[in-house]
Amino acid sequence: MSHQLTISGETKEERYAQLLPQIEAMIRYESDSIALMANVSAAIKEAFGFLWVGFYRVMGGNLVLGPFQGPTACTRIPYGKGVCGTAWAARQAVVVENVDLFPGHIACSSQSRSEIVVPFYRNGEVAGVLDIDSAQTAAFDSVDLRWLTEMVNCIDW
Ligand code: SME
Repeated sequence: MSHQLTISGETKEERYAQLLPQIEAMIRYESDSIALMANVSAAIKEAFGFLWVGFYRVMGGNLVLGPFQGPTACTRIPYGKGVCGTAWAARQAVVVENVDLFPGHIACSSQSRSEIVVPFYRNGEVAGVLDIDSAQTAAFDSVDLRWLTEMVNCIDW
């Protein structure tokens, strides 16, 4: 099944509104979570051009790197560490306007300026996180939070 994206909206809101149904279509035709993580990270990267878009999966006491698009990244993040481990422990999305001001931020790329991390769940437990980094400060706000939360929750992890 091919999934060529069509994104033409000018605002972030419009682009997310176009992206979501295309991601829902991917989910209808594929249930393998690695395949979905791969295409969802590619789709978000293509739609917005963020520096890094990818998934970490909970494996024991760590988040382990999954499919992503962007520069090479750290492979393991312990529970409660960095922005990703903080979102896992808090069971809540974290939006960081300036990564230099986030205590314990793990710098995978020196180009990263802001970040959003959205957890997703299996049987009520955090199964992993979607992590997005931008080369611009304060790239993420409540619009990203709302759409990305909806996106990861469409998938049956
Ligand atoms: N910055 C993240 C680490 C993962 S990379 O950004 C891809 C963190 O502090 O958890």
